Amino acid sequence: MFKALVVEKDEDGKTRAEVQEISEDRLPEGEVTVAVEYSTVNYKDGLCIGPGGGLVRTYPHVPGIDLAGTVEASDDPRYAPGDRVVLTGWRVGEAHWGGHAQKVRVKADWLVPLPEGLDPRRAMAVGTAGFTAMLAVMALEDHGLATGQGPVLVTGAAGGVGSIATALLAALGHEVAAVTGRPEQEGYLRDLGAQRIVARGEIDETIKRPLEGETWAGCVDAVGGAMLARVLGQMKYGASVAAVGLAGGATLPASVIPFLLRGVNLLGIDSVMQPFANRQRAWARIARDLPLDKLDSMIVPATLNDLPELGAAILKGQVRGRVVVDVNA
Ligand SMILES: NC(=O)c1ccc[n+]([C@@H]2O[C@H](COP(=O)([O-])OP(=O)(O)OC[C@H]3O[C@@H](n4cnc5c(N)ncnc54)[C@H](OP(=O)(O)O)[C@@H]3O)[C@@H](O)[C@H]2O)c1
Repeated sequence: MFKALVVEKDEDGKTRAEVQEISEDRLPEGEVTVAVEYSTVNYKDGLCIGPGGGLVRTYPHVPGIDLAGTVEASDDPRYAPGDRVVLTGWRVGEAHWGGHAQKVRVKADWLVPLPEGLDPRRAMAVGTAGFTAMLAVMALEDHGLATGQGPVLVTGAAGGVGSIATALLAALGHEVAAVTGRPEQEGYLRDLGAQRIVARGEIDETIKRPLEGETWAGCVDAVGGAMLARVLGQMKYGASVAAVGLAGGATLPASVIPFLLRGVNLLGIDSVMQPFANRQRAWARIARDLPLDKLDSMIVPATLNDLPELGAAILKGQVRGRVVVDVNA
């Protein structure tokens, strides 16, 4: 028997999440059984713990899109009992039972060996949010971003993706400008390494002019919508924006002029179906480049029992930094 957060749906379509003891024979099929140590809470987890958001296929469901732990049994030659692994994406926690549990059974293809220097707790402080932030920074670098080119903008900076993008870019030597709608988070963002704070209200509305002054050498955008449209017109010549999220909206009311007159690049970032080689590269970079003291300062500890409340809070934008769930506490 092991503990898991189980979401059930009643006949009226209402969902209810509670921690239950369930037996191992209820685990789905898969090649590798992992003893989960830590998980986390993302926006998608909020949906899957609560109303489902169209992501969950069948009930009862165990949410948790991220997990880290130790292999307990494996039918795949790439993994052996005792190996430390991390899993993000692949629709685990949505279409498959996920990491808000003490055990999971998954495909070997979905796992990544934990790199030297990261333990399961810190890997979950990183989670999908930090992994995605790293993918975004790598994409900007692959398109020419280097230090000394000017300030790099991070939108939604006090959120999960934004916090880790801020800390990573600052540690890599970039001047980071952090956009936030929560002025009370200025101290937190400066501690992560932001040198400039931009109030959300300064750039969350479109203007008629398609181009403004060339300001940003790069941008990690977690917000989308009007803010992304506005930022495109503020990029330096040839600079790139990595589009990661839609916290401010999924539509893009933008002009093509920044692409045509300034050679601006808009780079799409997907963490869910990312191929293994790039996952390994991103986790190795995280272990190398993300300052552990900054990562530790973002951690909000939690247990399986806290998840229903945390799921609702993240949907309301009330979570700062990175929640780390100790599933055995
Ligand atoms: N592409 C991928 O594979 C991938 C992976 C992970 C996440 N995502 C997406 O990336 C986004 C950020 O994820 P997250 O985990 O960092 O979420 P989060 O912790 O909820 O952070 C989102 C941040 O966006 C800002 N924000 C919220 N509502 C806003 C609004 N209406 N207008 C402007 N800014 C707003 C807030 O930052 P401030 O409080 O600082 O203003 C908030 O903290 C989400 O849309 C998520 O779905 C995508």
